[in-house]
Amino acid sequence: QDTAPAPGELLEIALVVAREAADTARVMRVEGVSGVTTKSTRTDVVTAADRAVERQVLAALREARPQDTVLGEEYGDSGGPDRSAVPGAVRWIVDPIDGTVNYLYGLPQYAVSLAAEVDGVVVAGVVRNAATGDEWTATRGGGAYRAGRRLRCSTETDLGQALVATGFGYDSARRVHQARVLAQLIPQIRDIRRFGAAALDLCLAAEGAVDAYYEKGLAAWDLAAGGLIAAEAGLRVAGLAGAAAGPDLVIAAPPTLFEPLHDLLAGLDASGGP
Ligand code: IPD
Ligand code: CA
Ligand code: CA
Ligand code: CA
Repeated sequence: QDTAPAPGELLEIALVVAREAADTARVMRVEGVSGVTTKSTRTDVVTAADRAVERQVLAALREARPQDTVLGEEYGDSGGPDRSAVPGAVRWIVDPIDGTVNYLYGLPQYAVSLAAEVDGVVVAGVVRNAATGDEWTATRGGGAYRAGRRLRCSTETDLGQALVATGFGYDSARRVHQARVLAQLIPQIRDIRRFGAAALDLCLAAEGAVDAYYEKGLAAWDLAAGGLIAAEAGLRVAGLAGAAAGPDLVIAAPPTLFEPLHDLLAGLDASGGP
């Protein structure tokens, strides 16, 4: 049995690691994007920086807390013995660069996302925009913050007035389905925003810069830190019909908008398709 560390303690570690990682991403961008290859489809890119940043995070976490496991986008599971059943075990979840396409094009909307799970529950998370240095943090039960200010989500009550962020996966069949859903959603809301980094979308919802966010196809590393930050800012973060937020669908909406947005997305079969 491990003694579960306090969320604040894990957040301190996450902050140090994420800041160093974000510096690496930013410096590598200034030096010029390199090592660009594709993964699942022609548009699913990965760069040398995605890999270098994740390796740096893995090394830093191994040094700070050698007993913990790590799940990352580029290197998967850190391996080692399965400690998921050990009470108090910590697993880190990292997206080294969320918003790789923005990174590729030099759009200042890409981030390091790092979260700590204890016993399978995310208890601490940081999302740091590597281009701007903006940073969002949360601990479970302890609130969400940006630059020392506690975050509160939008209080909008009218879905017709809601600015909603979303994103698309890399698979073209899935995108066709997502675009169909979107085409029917747009007339029912104020407008849509597609910024290109799910973790940052969740942080923008946390501070009320968009009213809500939804997306199908997110991976654990897209959602872990930003999902906690959004929830701690008062958003309801869930899937369809009482399911937890996950690959099928993530809806992050203020309590005042969750039900209407949920029902609309359910009616449009937002979690369906490929
Ligand atoms: C992607 C971004 C994008 C979202 C995709 C993600 P990546 O992550 O968050 O906004 O729409 O679903 O896969 O590949 O840039 O880390
Ligand atoms: Ca990726
Ligand atoms: Ca991502
Ligand atoms: Ca990524």
